[in-house]
Amino acid sequence: MNPNTIASPSTNSNIQVTAANKIIRIFDTTLRDGEQSPGATLRPEQKIVLARQLAKLGIDVIEPGFAVSSPGEFAAVQQISRELQGVEIAGFARAVRGDIDAAVKATMDATRRRLHLFISSSDIHLDFQLKKSREQVVNIAREMVAYGKQFVDEIEFSAMDASRTSREFVIEMVEAVIAEGATVINLPDTLGFALPEEYGAMFRAVRTGARGADRVQFSAHCHNDLGLAVANSLAAISAGATQIEVTVNGIGERAGNCSLEELVMAIETRKSAVGAQTGIVMSEIYETSRMVSRAMNFPIAYNKPIVGRNAFQHESGIHQDGLLKNRNTYEIMDPEAMGIPRNMIVLGKHSGRHAIKHRLAEFGIELNEEQMQDVYDRFKEKADALKIVPDDVLVRLASETTEQQHD
Ligand code: KIV
Ligand code: ZN
Repeated sequence: MNPNTIASPSTNSNIQVTAANKIIRIFDTTLRDGEQSPGATLRPEQKIVLARQLAKLGIDVIEPGFAVSSPGEFAAVQQISRELQGVEIAGFARAVRGDIDAAVKATMDATRRRLHLFISSSDIHLDFQLKKSREQVVNIAREMVAYGKQFVDEIEFSAMDASRTSREFVIEMVEAVIAEGATVINLPDTLGFALPEEYGAMFRAVRTGARGADRVQFSAHCHNDLGLAVANSLAAISAGATQIEVTVNGIGERAGNCSLEELVMAIETRKSAVGAQTGIVMSEIYETSRMVSRAMNFPIAYNKPIVGRNAFQHESGIHQDGLLKNRNTYEIMDPEAMGIPRNMIVLGKHSGRHAIKHRLAEFGIELNEEQMQDVYDRFKEKADALKIVPDDVLVRLASETTEQQHD
């Protein structure tokens, strides 16, 4: 048995992928919410290139930008809508007519599209930002969903800051917009404040408490201020959400959004426990991450799960030894399946003889016991000085040893 196929703790059985796994739709907002990351602004032509890659990655819904915000943004949303046939395009708008008109117009030529409308729901936003009562906000939400529905069938409604809103008011607002024709209800954790149990509980309460909830899809949109965006998204899946909003590399406002690659690989790696699957093309994950990092000029932390430089590298001698015998000893995912070049062993001061011998063998170098001892001793000195010993340094140590013996 593959040790990474772990029995689901809840059922204690080894459920394989079956039709029973629900399909989670991945809604990518790298080009809208992700772009709200300080310094990560993209030119329209960069957005188009990235949108093509997102389509290749198998994203279900792409949110290409905020059409009303500038002529360049409008043009990018329009061109992506025209070009990416087959992917659903989300036109993003505040609950105001001007925004809706721009989003509707920019996405006009998409083969499949939705209008994504939002308005705040928490008292703190209502009192200090919108300066409106709950009643006024519900009326605006209702009117704007009805307005958008004249042009677009699929309407996603987001109750911004839902996780800091009273349950009763979220339910009231959700009921009101469903009655006007909203088809997807998004309950964002806008400030990354919720804990997984609370976030899941909100979805359960709204799904069971709001009239008409059985007619719509539920979506999660999590920010990562407490490092909980992926955990909260998984909690939402357990509580019935069928769409998760993500960004590549978790890029986004402040500490960012739910990271696409982390969420998708959590679902993929723990399929039986999560009871879900996505349509993401795993082999495109790494390339997409690199493209976004380059275009947005946003480096990826070395220890970032999945796509960070160190995510699949092992320096400890004990781990290296285990990996060389069977990679499942210290790896739960296959990096190559995500398009990540396999170079799992980093040679440094914790590396053992076995790993060094193995790396030299990859270069066709075989040493006798005495030569190996010499290389090993000098390797350790280098490792203290360099931290990571590059392959060319190791090979040079080996040639110096063999040359000395021939002299
Ligand atoms: O974080 C948030 O609440 C959002 C919504 C506007 C969807 O980005
Ligand atoms: Zn957001």
